[in-house]
Amino acid sequence: MNIRCATLNGVATIEIARPEKKNALTAAMYKAMADALHAAQADASVRAVLITGQPGAFTSGNDIEDFTSRAVAASAAESPALQFMRALLGIDKPVVAAVTGAALGIGTTLLLHCDLVYVSDEARLAMPFVGLGLVPEFGSSLVVPRLMGNVKAAEKLLLGEPFTGAEAVEAGIANAVLPAHEVLNHARRIAERFNALPPGAVRETKKLLRRSSMEDVLKTIALESEVFAQRLRSPEAKEAFQAFFQKRQPDFSKFS
Ligand code: COA
Repeated sequence: MNIRCATLNGVATIEIARPEKKNALTAAMYKAMADALHAAQADASVRAVLITGQPGAFTSGNDIEDFTSRAVAASAAESPALQFMRALLGIDKPVVAAVTGAALGIGTTLLLHCDLVYVSDEARLAMPFVGLGLVPEFGSSLVVPRLMGNVKAAEKLLLGEPFTGAEAVEAGIANAVLPAHEVLNHARRIAERFNALPPGAVRETKKLLRRSSMEDVLKTIALESEVFAQRLRSPEAKEAFQAFFQKRQPDFSKFS
């Protein structure tokens, strides 16, 4: 299975394990991650969740082949990615991310909804939606400008410029940058600290921390999902996806 789940010492770990495709996420993988989050929520022995990837690849985002094949059939509301994101937004236990390598597309946007984020010094983050003919997703069009300001957000979301863990720390997207070989253990140690804290107070504090932004985030996600689904079927996106599979630069010169 490309999603490995294990609970040890109060921490439910969700490990993305599809290194041959740089941990690109298929519908089945989103479902497995959503199921794992629901299971962690229901399991009283779990005090925190840890999401991690493989050395060099946290996740390269949506599996482009998988999601283009589903683009026509699925409505935004049924999207497996959205179901995963709902589970992530809904869990009331702390979620810690160990960004072990490239975090592209949803690989970066999911971090906006984790509680604590640790990034490898070799990792690159990016939200390259526009270059794929798409739009930002999962609240990033709201949260990124709030965190970075409008001009930096335009750099990341309009131009799709990649950025380092250090820049993510500066923007408040990540807590710290760690050497690549230490990031997972560090994040695990942080997650294990919740074993010594009172779970009720942790739960209520997480709720309070998210309260002021949650309504806006949910509204934004609904709007983004609608536009994203339209864009998935657009000729611009088709050209971008074909170019990806043909390993060439996309040509948007014919579009107006
Ligand atoms: N969807 C589907 N397949 C993907 C993928 C994705 N998001 N990301 C990587 N892969 C596949 C590649 O097609 C390649 O498959 P192949 O070996 O059958 O040709 C394999 O994973 C390895 O990727 P490759 O591009 O050769 O590795 P790299 O180290 O040169 O580059 C990335 C890694 C992640 C920088 C690059 O693959 C990339 O930019 N991927 C697309 C990321 C993206 O646009 N994500 C947003 C989706 S919304």
